[in-house]
Amino acid sequence: MANDRDRLLPRNPLLRQTVARLLFAAPVLSVMGCAEEDLGCIPYDEHEGRYDVSSRLPDGGVPNDLNCLQVCTKQTAHRCKVNSVPTTHPDGGQTLEPYTNCFTIVPAGCASDGRRPEGLQAARAEARCALGSHFARMAWLEAASVPAFLRLAEELKAHGAPAELIRAARRSAGEEVRHTRAARALARRHGATVPEVEVAPFSPRSLEALLHENAKEGCVGETHGALVAGWQARAARDAQVREALSQIAEDELRHAELSWAVEAWATERLSSDARQRLREARLAAFHDLERRVAQEEPDAVLVQQAGLPSRDAAMHLLQGLQVLIA
Ligand SMILES: [Fe+2]
Ligand SMILES: [Fe+2]
Repeated sequence: MANDRDRLLPRNPLLRQTVARLLFAAPVLSVMGCAEEDLGCIPYDEHEGRYDVSSRLPDGGVPNDLNCLQVCTKQTAHRCKVNSVPTTHPDGGQTLEPYTNCFTIVPAGCASDGRRPEGLQAARAEARCALGSHFARMAWLEAASVPAFLRLAEELKAHGAPAELIRAARRSAGEEVRHTRAARALARRHGATVPEVEVAPFSPRSLEALLHENAKEGCVGETHGALVAGWQARAARDAQVREALSQIAEDELRHAELSWAVEAWATERLSSDARQRLREARLAAFHDLERRVAQEEPDAVLVQQAGLPSRDAAMHLLQGLQVLIA
């Protein structure tokens, strides 16, 4: 009999079937097409990235869209937007707490954002070429997922979640360490340096705030990440990328399953209004992802060597995910 501590979460058949069906369309390589090629060096472009802060203005006031650059901590931030998140207080009262999206310029070639922790500070990879930049950013995001899962495990424990969810979150943090190593090796191979991960200190938050992050970074982000990694594992011409990504894709699918399992467990504890807000947050995150994918055609070298889906293929994949997200 399997040790209780080793037991994995139950599989999510709808998630697995949807991802498997969408991956049928991936352009699997024939062995004949894998001859060594001179990759050259395609310089990377830049595009807009984002990080969120919840700080107040220096005078204690609430930022607005005109003055919010004052709370953005990175000098590369060039525009900002103020949003709010519903927060439940210990006395049961609810308020809308403001937070600011800070937009920066970052290298292109982002496949999937994985699970970004709250307070992740923007960083810039040192890379001359598109492939190096892509894998350095990937390694940075994989490394950033480690504190995100450790925090999730702590918060699940504090909210009295079942032990199997807490264990799965801790196990996921360990898997993200492995992903970081694999992506770092790919980045190094292309002469790129992975930036350090910096995360602002976490502060306690409500179950609902946790679930909003889980909806965006997990149910949407990691589900999409699992799908894109599975695509890369089939389509990349670079054998080392295929090997690394096939392990990562398997793990990411379990991370996506964990996200949906967390949501299924926790939504029973929410009021119907809070459940509706959560659905809306998940949809908003999905539409945000759709907008980003629609705006970016990956470099040809990333499509060929790293196996990234082209913009059209990526949009098709997102359409296929709607059955899960809506
Ligand atoms: Fe990962
Ligand atoms: Fe992950």
